[in-house]
Order: sequence, then structure tokens, then C-alpha cells
Amino acid sequence: MKKEKLNQNSFKLDRKFLFFATHNIHKFNEAQIVLSEFNLSVGMLRVKNAEIQSDNLKEIAQSSALEIFKQYGLPILVEDSGLFVEALNGFPGPYAAYVYKTIGNRGLISLMEKIGNRKAVFKSAIVYCKSDKINPKFFEGEVTGTIALKEVRKQSVHGFGFDPIFRPKGNSKLFSEMTIAEKNFYSHRAIALRKFARWFNQSKK
Ligand code: IMP
Repeated sequence: MKKEKLNQNSFKLDRKFLFFATHNIHKFNEAQIVLSEFNLSVGMLRVKNAEIQSDNLKEIAQSSALEIFKQYGLPILVEDSGLFVEALNGFPGPYAAYVYKTIGNRGLISLMEKIGNRKAVFKSAIVYCKSDKINPKFFEGEVTGTIALKEVRKQSVHGFGFDPIFRPKGNSKLFSEMTIAEKNFYSHRAIALRKFARWFNQSKK
């Protein structure tokens, strides 16, 4: 009887435990806080970026999720995000990581030097994969905002990537000036993760 109970408990634990595959500790920290709101525990599966070339965030996340699932056989979440600047016809979009690595925040700001329209959207594609026989589940989130005139680093509480130049709509603070909890109130990633968590907690799987 005692043993049965133990097994039941460990089953419950298994059901609530997931892996978030990323090499980015900031993304993981954000995800961990959002998922804990839904009583989900998450471990970081540190993987190298193995993204396919595509201009579609969903395709990139899906292909990475299947690839990582094949390697580890664990129920995993994979996220891919992009920054779409309206005045630059959506550039850098899904190529945001490359643009960040090459020209960085200052480079992007220089590209927008004489541009008055500062509107931009951050998009997140979250994919959950627990089998290579079932289609991975997909969830998306986005946050609209503006690109700052200059990078602000000095008050940084958290922040990575484009956080020091992105201000969500209706807010006086940049992402980099917010705590993780504040950023999670607005962010593309948190929105997509909450959609996932609601689905996950309702599904019988
Ligand atoms: P990826 O999802 O890691 O491919 O992200 C694309 C690029 O956008 C990377 O340079 C990230 O640093 C950046 N990025 C993704 N999400 C965020 C965010 O929440 N804040 C700031 N930059 C981000």
C-alpha cells in the first residue's frame, strides 16, 4: 500500500515536470517563473543552438524540438523568438540572433537613426514535444512596443539581447529596467508559455 502511494506520487511529479531546452539562462529563468504560476516545474536542458534556416519561427522551433527530442527522449519545450521592426519591413525577424551577434543593439539603433516610426513586435513560438509520433504542440505570443532611441544599460535589473532597447507599449520602462516578474507581465515568451501551461494542465497527457 505504502509502495503504491509512493509510485502514485512519483507519477504526479513526473507529470508536472518538464524540460526547457535552451542555451540561454535568461530565457530559462523567465520560463521557470511563468510555469511555476501553473504548478509546473521545469529543468534546463542546456543545448547548443541547432536552429534550421527558416523565416518562420514556428518551423524553426518545431524542427529544433523534434531534433532535441530524438536526442534526449524527454518531454521538452523549445522556444524561438524574433524581433520585427515595422519601419524595416519586419527585419530582423527570425534572424534576430544573427543580427544581435553581428551588429548588436547599437547597430540596430544606427539603422534606425533617421526613422521616426519606432514600432516593433517581439514574437515567441513555443513548441512542446513528448513523442516523435505525435505532432508537437505549438503556442505563440507577441508583445508590441517601440525601439528606444538609445540603449539603456545602467539601470539594468535583468535583461538580455534586445531588452535594453525594447519598451513594451504603454510602459515607461524598457525590458532591461524591469524585474523578471514585471517583464513576464508583458513579454511574448510569457504569453506563449501561459497558453502552453493552460493547455498542458487541462490535457490528460
Ligand atoms: P532566439 O530565440 O534565441 O533565436 O532569439 C533571437 C534573438 O532575439 C537573440 O539575439 C535573443 O537574444 C533575442 N531575444 C529573444 N528573446 C528576447 C527577449 O525576451 N528580450 C530581448 N531579446 C530577446
